[in-house]
Amino acid sequence: MFLTDARVEGRRQVARAMWVITLDAPEVAATVKAGQFVNLGLNPGPLLRRPFSVYRAIEDRIEVILQAVGAGTAQLLALREGDLVSCLGPLGRGFEIRSGGRSAVLISGGLGVAPMPVAARDARAAGLQVTWVHGARSAEDLCSESDGDAVIVATDDGSAGFAGTSVAAAPDADLVLACGPNRMLAAVAGRWPDAQVAVETYMGCGTGVCLGCAVPLKRGGYDLACTEGPVYRAGDVDWAALPSHLHYAATA
Ligand SMILES: Cc1cc2nc3c(=O)[nH]c(=O)nc-3n(C[C@H](O)[C@H](O)[C@H](O)COP(=O)(O)OP(=O)(O)OC[C@H]3O[C@@H](n4cnc5c(N)ncnc54)[C@H](O)[C@@H]3O)c2cc1C
Ligand code: FES
Repeated sequence: MFLTDARVEGRRQVARAMWVITLDAPEVAATVKAGQFVNLGLNPGPLLRRPFSVYRAIEDRIEVILQAVGAGTAQLLALREGDLVSCLGPLGRGFEIRSGGRSAVLISGGLGVAPMPVAARDARAAGLQVTWVHGARSAEDLCSESDGDAVIVATDDGSAGFAGTSVAAAPDADLVLACGPNRMLAAVAGRWPDAQVAVETYMGCGTGVCLGCAVPLKRGGYDLACTEGPVYRAGDVDWAALPSHLHYAATA
């Protein structure tokens, strides 16, 4: 885990309300695994850092994808090239992507695209044929960037690609990875209990101290998403007890 003052290198829009910010963070870029996240802090800014999946890692730079939902995200989107943001990471336990099998399907809903480019990179490096299925409410909400040997898009209103959810549009594969609203991940669990899913939770410290990121488990008890997650075997999570109202749900 590294703590660095990362320089903002650029910003681009990739959907109606989705932006990608590029940060100079060499140590994080060199070590991050798909599904891991960074905690970004601003001073002045919200008291607590905010967690964001690493969207891409290219040479010395990482990218995060976000939309403004509150004070922290609005401040990040207002940063200009050359500004500094405090970056702690990589954090959490990412996707386990091993050789073996032939195919991987990456299923994302809305902002759930966030860990997928790095997941596509790692799955391809493991010799897997990668299909990325990306779903959103409508065509304007679909991320304009994608990765994978094949790409399937799905929209709730049928304005682009498959009319329906990304889960319904996804083919079977040897490895299933998913990220998006918790109700979408619950549907993934119903179809592929062995899928690996990156769950959404509130987070405070991001390092296992505040207990603010509890994930209820089917076997009873709770895990801490920041250190033991945020990636889980889909069938292990008690989806009915996990909040499904977080804002990822508004865009998938
Ligand atoms: C492991 C992890 C990875 C994440 N990756 C991304 C990412 O790649 N891109 C991205 O845009 N967001 C991501 N999030 C969500 C992001 O951290 C929150 O949107 C952010 O913390 C909100 O901060 P804020 O100050 O703007 O909003 P706040 O003022 O704190 O809250 C505004 C609204 O956002 C909701 N919210 C707050 N925290 C979260 C949260 N953790 N998850 C979902 N909704 C929340 C609140 O309920 C409220 O409705 C991730 C969250 C986690 C736990
Ligand atoms: S966010 Fe503080 S313990 Fe997980």
